[in-house]
Amino acid sequence: MGHHVFTRDLTKDYPIASHGEGIYIVDDKRRQILDACGGVVAVSLGYNNRFIEERLKDQIDRLCFAHTGAFINKPIIELSDRIMSYLNSEFGKAYFVSGGSEANETAIKLARQYWHDTGHKKKSKIVSRLMSYHGNSLGVLAISGNPARQKLYAPMLKHQPKASPHYCYRCPYGKSEGKCSLECANSLEKIIQKEGKEKIAAFIAEPVVGASCCGAEGSKEYFKRIRQICDENEVLLILDEVMSGMGRTGRWFAAEHYDIVPDIFTLGKGISSSYMPLAAMICKDKIAAGISKGAFVHGFTFSGHALAAEAGNAVFDYIEKKNLLEKVGYGGAYLFKRLEEMKEKYPFIGDVRGLGYMAGIEFVKDKKTKEPFPDELSLTAKIKAECWKNGMLIFAGTRMKVNIEGNEVEQGDHVMLAPHFTTTQSELETILDIFETSVKDVMEKI
Ligand SMILES: Cc1ncc(COP(=O)(O)O)c(C=O)c1O
Repeated sequence: MGHHVFTRDLTKDYPIASHGEGIYIVDDKRRQILDACGGVVAVSLGYNNRFIEERLKDQIDRLCFAHTGAFINKPIIELSDRIMSYLNSEFGKAYFVSGGSEANETAIKLARQYWHDTGHKKKSKIVSRLMSYHGNSLGVLAISGNPARQKLYAPMLKHQPKASPHYCYRCPYGKSEGKCSLECANSLEKIIQKEGKEKIAAFIAEPVVGASCCGAEGSKEYFKRIRQICDENEVLLILDEVMSGMGRTGRWFAAEHYDIVPDIFTLGKGISSSYMPLAAMICKDKIAAGISKGAFVHGFTFSGHALAAEAGNAVFDYIEKKNLLEKVGYGGAYLFKRLEEMKEKYPFIGDVRGLGYMAGIEFVKDKKTKEPFPDELSLTAKIKAECWKNGMLIFAGTRMKVNIEGNEVEQGDHVMLAPHFTTTQSELETILDIFETSVKDVMEKI
């Protein structure tokens, strides 16, 4: 291997990324990889976007960092104003950090301090959903409904209650979409009743699920009921838009599709198109005002990093200048049309789901019974490897089996296509062609 990098998989030899060319990454052996998933649904505006690079260079000449214990800086003032300009007037404060896990840690700690300082000292539990992912540090790993990622660290994690996912393809209650009583949403109410509402600080959910159930969307009815349950029980609603936010679904925030207004939400990944490590926690004014002595007991060295925030400002400008939300809208319609056609054509595609440029595909052995392929087959890994062999990177979901209110629910293998917003029509067609060929080839071999 000849280097000292602690790689993600220590047994694997990784190619060395050399430079970017639009939506391609070129390695040091000049192999081009077409990025069909923004790395991890994180890069949205291409790898060598000169507009963003120039803005960063200008900011480097002015200021990269001034610690937020002593200063604020112009890029974070501008970025928070910008975010607020897309939100209703109840929202008032943005807290900038370096990654999605930090943003969610910030959100749940703020929820705790808000309730503590407003006289509800017992409120500390965070309800989340099974089949979710909110990050890898211990606090947010505990609220991630992802047993595979939690298993090893289970003795170190504090138990946090889990509600049912909104997973209509495999409804644990045996209902079909639109013909149910929102049992999944009501599971939140049951948990609150069981634990005691005086102990629950917040409920957190991804509006469109990422790694743990690629592309599983919410619905207006679902989120309306969730909002109602939260309001009736004085529970804050946190939406994790680390993956789904910043235009990924064709709107600035996925919540807009569902007319749902959370109390707190988080952004990450696409907020800087990964040009700098940046994420954010955004809250309503009333939450910030609830911090009684004014000091949020929290903070990281790199919170409010000026250079990172300028990447965020440049991303907002670029998306607007190039009208990219609209582009994700019609590009997404094309992406889903092609994937739906594949679903009709092939017996092994069970479900196609998601919004905009977040397209989840679930594979099944039997379309009628929805029986998944055997876990031992490692189908997700095989499909990812075949796409890679054909020069393309796709996003692999984590397959899991969970017990939802007494019912075992086992997912099929699932992956996601999440193109950069700058992907051209012909590149989009190439992505879909490579995907189709790769999946077909894998299926013929197994
Ligand atoms: C929905 C969601 N929340 C949080 C995170 C954690 O973000 P990060 O890896 O930047 O810490 C991720 C990462 O994939 C995510 O998809």
